[in-house]
Amino acid sequence: MGCRVAVICLAVLIAGIIPPSAARAATKSFRLEAPDMLVESGLLRFLLPRFTLKHGIRIEIVKEGAPSDARLSANAEGTPVFEGPEQTWSLSLTDTDNAYADTFADWLTGDVGRNTVDAFEVNGRALFSAALEKPKADESVILPGNEVAGEKLAEIHCGRCHMVNEATRLTTVGSTPSFAVMRGFTDWQTRFEAFFVLNPHPSFTVIDGVTEPFDETRPSPMVPVTITIDELEAILAFVSRMEPADLGAPIQYQ
Ligand code: HEC
Repeated sequence: MGCRVAVICLAVLIAGIIPPSAARAATKSFRLEAPDMLVESGLLRFLLPRFTLKHGIRIEIVKEGAPSDARLSANAEGTPVFEGPEQTWSLSLTDTDNAYADTFADWLTGDVGRNTVDAFEVNGRALFSAALEKPKADESVILPGNEVAGEKLAEIHCGRCHMVNEATRLTTVGSTPSFAVMRGFTDWQTRFEAFFVLNPHPSFTVIDGVTEPFDETRPSPMVPVTITIDELEAILAFVSRMEPADLGAPIQYQ
């Protein structure tokens, strides 16, 4: 009995010295769950201080199965982030909505995080590599819709300015980005879906039931581009199947 009381007193005493919740509230931090193997590899000891230095966010590594805000695991759950001895490691955010964990996910999947993973060596040998096939997810985006009709529609409506395909190579405005170049942007889909709100299009584009009528004092400077939502969907289907332009080094991941 006396022993139990002593244990409780000790626990209270320790809690009094370092209240864990207060410690967490006072600093920016989140809990990252990682298997022992990854911890023992030394990669996290190399990676995490660099992240903390950059963002002022501390990471508490917790054991597999413990409550966490983000999890690194080899079971293909979440976003693949790096490869290392014979496995692919993925990062998933557990549903705690911890913004610091989001920041870590952005960092780890961005250039700096990836370069840091690649820079980690043991006895002069790199154990992990962040050179995953990054465009994979992008390439697999094939949007539904009639891509044959979409190509024709794009030639007619967008080919006034953009080079849409070979047929529109010579008839278009050279300074306007080609569809193939824009298809190479990782966020091509969001840009195309919303092209009518992105300049210069709002001043001359009409999409039935979507765009506001032109301001009467500022009529369209040219014959308006008038398409329907279904036609835009067809154009998106066509663009999704396009080969992105190879711009060389800047968009390549080594
Ligand atoms: C009158 C000329 C013109 C027409 C017609 C036109 N565009 Fe554009 N578009 C441009 C110009 C110029 C830019 C580059 C704007 C810039 O660089 O800021 C552009 C940029 C874009 C962008 C990238 C926008 C961004 O900010 O990321 C998309 C996507 C796009 N156009 C799609 C289309 C589609 C789809 C059509 C046909 C339905 C179309 N455009 C018709 C002139 C045109």
